[in-house]
Amino acid sequence: MKNSKKAVIFDLDGVIVDTAKFHFLAWQNLAEKLGITFTAEDNEHLKGVSRVRSLEKILKWGHKEVSQEEFEELMHDKNEEYLTYVNQMTTKDILPRVKETLDYLKKENHPIALGSASKNAKRILKHVGLMHYFDAIVDGNEVTQAKPNPEVFLKAAKLLNVNPQNAIVFEDSLSGIEAANTGQMLSIGIGNARVLAAADYVFKNFRELDLETLKNILNKQTNL
Ligand code: BG6
Ligand code: MG
Repeated sequence: MKNSKKAVIFDLDGVIVDTAKFHFLAWQNLAEKLGITFTAEDNEHLKGVSRVRSLEKILKWGHKEVSQEEFEELMHDKNEEYLTYVNQMTTKDILPRVKETLDYLKKENHPIALGSASKNAKRILKHVGLMHYFDAIVDGNEVTQAKPNPEVFLKAAKLLNVNPQNAIVFEDSLSGIEAANTGQMLSIGIGNARVLAAADYVFKNFRELDLETLKNILNKQTNL
C-alpha cells in the first residue's frame, strides 16, 4: 500500500541553504588559475548543474582544453576549497523560514525527502543540523542521470513510498523544475518567477510562502 499523505521533496542548494556563494568562490578561484573570466552571472548558469558538467561549461566558456587527468585534479581542487566553506556552515546558514516549514511538515506527518545533485548533501545537512527531518535522502552519489532527468525525485518518491503524483518538489533551478514536471510531481519554484516560469507555483523564498498557502497547496486534490 502506498502512503496517501502528500510527500515533500526538497532540493538542497538554493532551497534549504545558500551555498551558491561558496560554489562561486571555489569556481572563481579555479577559473582565475586557468586564466578564465568567471562572473557572478556565469555562476547563475551553474545552479543545479553537476560538478562535472559545471567544469565542462567553464572550460568551454574559456576555450580551454585539459587532459582527463587535469580535469579530475581540477574537480578535486574545487571540491576541496568548497568543503572548507561547507565545514564552517552552521544553523545560521539555513535560509529564512526553511526550518519553520520543515517543522510544520513534520508536525503534520508529511514524508520528507531530499533530492539533490550534490555529492556533499549529507555533510551539509549535518553541518546545519537538519539531517533528522529527512525520511529519505537521494543525492549526487545515487543518481546516474542529472536533472532535468527526473531520476533523483522518482527515487526519492519511491523511498518515501508515495506515487509521484502525490509528491511536491521545491526547486530553485529550472532543470530541477523540469525534472519534477517530467516526473509528474507538483513543482514549486523558489526564486525568480521569470526563470522558473515552468513551475506550478513560484515563491521568491519561504518567507513568501506562508504556512496557510502551503497548507492549501498540500490539500489540493490530485489524481492518485
Ligand atoms: C547542485 C548545485 O545542487 O549541486 C550545483 O546547485 C553543484 O552548483 C551541484 O555543482 C553538485 O554539487 P557538489 O557538492 O557535488 O559539487
Ligand atoms: Mg538548487
